[in-house]
Amino acid sequence: MASLKLNVDDYRRAAKRALPRFVFDYVDGGAERGECLRRNRSDLDQLALLPRVLRDTSQLDTRIEVFGQTWRRPFAVAPMGFNGLTRPAGDLLLARAAATCGIPFVLSTASNSRLEAVAQSNSPLNWMQIYLMRERSIAEQIVRRARGANYGALVLTVDVPVSGYRERDVRNGFRLPFRPSPATLLNLALHPGWLMRFVASGMPSFVNLAEEEGADTLKLQAALLSREMDRSLTWEIVAWLRRLWDGPLLIKGVLHPEDASKACAAGVDGLIVSNHGGRQLDGAISAIGALNGVLQAVDGRIPVFADSGFRSGLDIAKALALGAKGVFIGRPVLYGLATGGAQGATSVLELIGTELERAMTLAGAHDVAALNRELLRSASLRLHHDIHED
Ligand SMILES: Cc1cc2nc3c(=O)[nH]c(=O)nc-3n(C[C@H](O)[C@H](O)[C@H](O)COP(=O)(O)O)c2cc1C
Repeated sequence: MASLKLNVDDYRRAAKRALPRFVFDYVDGGAERGECLRRNRSDLDQLALLPRVLRDTSQLDTRIEVFGQTWRRPFAVAPMGFNGLTRPAGDLLLARAAATCGIPFVLSTASNSRLEAVAQSNSPLNWMQIYLMRERSIAEQIVRRARGANYGALVLTVDVPVSGYRERDVRNGFRLPFRPSPATLLNLALHPGWLMRFVASGMPSFVNLAEEEGADTLKLQAALLSREMDRSLTWEIVAWLRRLWDGPLLIKGVLHPEDASKACAAGVDGLIVSNHGGRQLDGAISAIGALNGVLQAVDGRIPVFADSGFRSGLDIAKALALGAKGVFIGRPVLYGLATGGAQGATSVLELIGTELERAMTLAGAHDVAALNRELLRSASLRLHHDIHED
């Protein structure tokens, strides 16, 4: 009998069982000692809701408007590379799950499905994420194609000038070309479900990198995988992108308030406060910890989103109460994908949606706007401060 999955932790445990170790570690892991990964969680746990009572919550409204589009719920699926490793056609399945839930899916530059194929599933709620590699023409043609395929927004990720050092991947020998260790091979044999699907579909490749479908992307893949990112990038890149892309442009991976101000000055349309789910700079501030400073710097000029460490509707309620426009969810949807394909990912998104609705009802917030700072306190017992604040 399939075990009861009541929360994202249950899905994580199920994914751990379903996936070969090297895949689970790739999905689940963080950079170096995991300090940032842990802080994303512990800082969220430090925030508490101060609920209101006797407020009519009989008609709950979780919708938000973003760049002229309605999201059914104030969260979306974060861009993740190599989704085909969790499930063949993983990007398509996640886009379908997002479409079922009426929320955006962000396709990664490092996707294993072509953006044209994914476009049909959730247009125009599909957004496109880009990395800028030294070979600038790769991003150039991806942006042009995303425009042609009616993607709703472009997300430039800026926190990967080099790849974070993910110790679990190194220990598993997970790099490309993939040279599994004997222990990894043995472990594959213990996951026949994953193995059979993988053998039937073949090794996922980074099919978005080349303009022509079916082109030999080997050189491009090598460039992406060795992460030949353009480390010389400055804020001037925004003007360069603007010439290629006339839709909403967001920057993902901003933590410093000064950078948020610079983004506004550069004419960016939105920000995603993120530490890449603790996968890049270990020791970095948590996303929830950085959110307030960014919000103050932005001062309402553009929408500010957050990701990294959000595992429940309750977590999302806290970020929204602080002032985030919405939240992006990463690993939890991959846990769902690993355990049940598109249906599994949909279940995770619906679970988080239900948790959010319950949190809103219990906090006395009938819509997203009612989730505000008056409902938020530090969880630690700072009695003096809290009394005087009230
Ligand atoms: C397996 C995996 C692959 C990722 N690949 C990308 C990527 O290609 N581009 C990107 O901008 N962010 C990428 N991210 C970061 C996510 O977009 C997001 O910032 C992070 O996962 C959010 O944290 P969470 O997983 O704790 O929800 C990846 C994250 C994971 C877990």
